[in-house]
Amino acid sequence: MRLKRKDLLGIEELERDEIELLLSTAESFKEVSEREIKKVPTLRGRTIINLFYEASTRTRTSFEIAAKRMSADAINISVSTSSVVKGETLRDTAKNLEAMRPDCIVVRHSSSGTPRMLSRYLACPVVNAGDGAHEHPSQALLDLLTVKEKLGSTDGIKISIIGDITHSRVARSNIYGFTKMGAEVTVAGPPTMLPPGIEKLGCRATTSMEEAIRGADVLMMLRIQSERQAEPLFPSVREYSRLYGLDEAKLRAAKKDVLILHPGPINRGVEISPDIADGPYSLILDQVTNGVAVRMAIFYLLLGGVKEGLQEGVKA
Ligand code: CP
Repeated sequence: MRLKRKDLLGIEELERDEIELLLSTAESFKEVSEREIKKVPTLRGRTIINLFYEASTRTRTSFEIAAKRMSADAINISVSTSSVVKGETLRDTAKNLEAMRPDCIVVRHSSSGTPRMLSRYLACPVVNAGDGAHEHPSQALLDLLTVKEKLGSTDGIKISIIGDITHSRVARSNIYGFTKMGAEVTVAGPPTMLPPGIEKLGCRATTSMEEAIRGADVLMMLRIQSERQAEPLFPSVREYSRLYGLDEAKLRAAKKDVLILHPGPINRGVEISPDIADGPYSLILDQVTNGVAVRMAIFYLLLGGVKEGLQEGVKA
């Protein structure tokens, strides 16, 4: 089975069976990262370009590691040292990179829709590594995998996504992902950070932190995306943290075995207290570990996978 598309642009367009395929493929790749020699020949001879117009630690590194663990050549382009600073357009940059015959381009950009636009210009697969406040599909897939690993299934679970929903591509991808995978999704935050009509995506919205926490199996805390806010949306960081930051006191309202997720980077003491980020309920570093396996699965399913008899490569 393969994905029903050339590119991975968002979770919105994926069907449930495609998400399941991505997750089961990621599960099968996890053990590669536990080996002494962390490499399989699956994508030997393939070239993957990471084109990041925005800062990244986790996403860029794990796409690179994923490519290398599958024996592909991974090239990272940092926009600050590329000819973009000389005025080259995104389209020209992409077409010039394509002329070097890569097999896949992974792109992160501050403008929503950039990966979709590139996918129309480029013959090779395009992977969205985060576009503006639109989508971050590989993040949602790794979040789904992390929860599925702990709870066995996402069907019927309750997840609350808390914070700056308006500016969060992680929130949007996770709303699509968790609802498609049978979960009940609640989004919570101050009224200025809850976009009007968000319920149309299939979630419930509340401004009450207590309501979001009570009964949830999973709490996903989000960073305030100040880089996307034209002006501050709350009186002060201290005020935000007092009302919407997750700390021991607020956690008392939660289920005793609640799982805590955060896509990172975390702002300790703002949206999450250090004792919770580092505590027994936190899966923050499991998410990062799963990010490599999920990105291996994305490459595998977009760059040939089963069709070219690469399945054996998984076990090689
Ligand atoms: N979660 C995430 O996208 O982190 P980075 O911005 O570090 O890639």
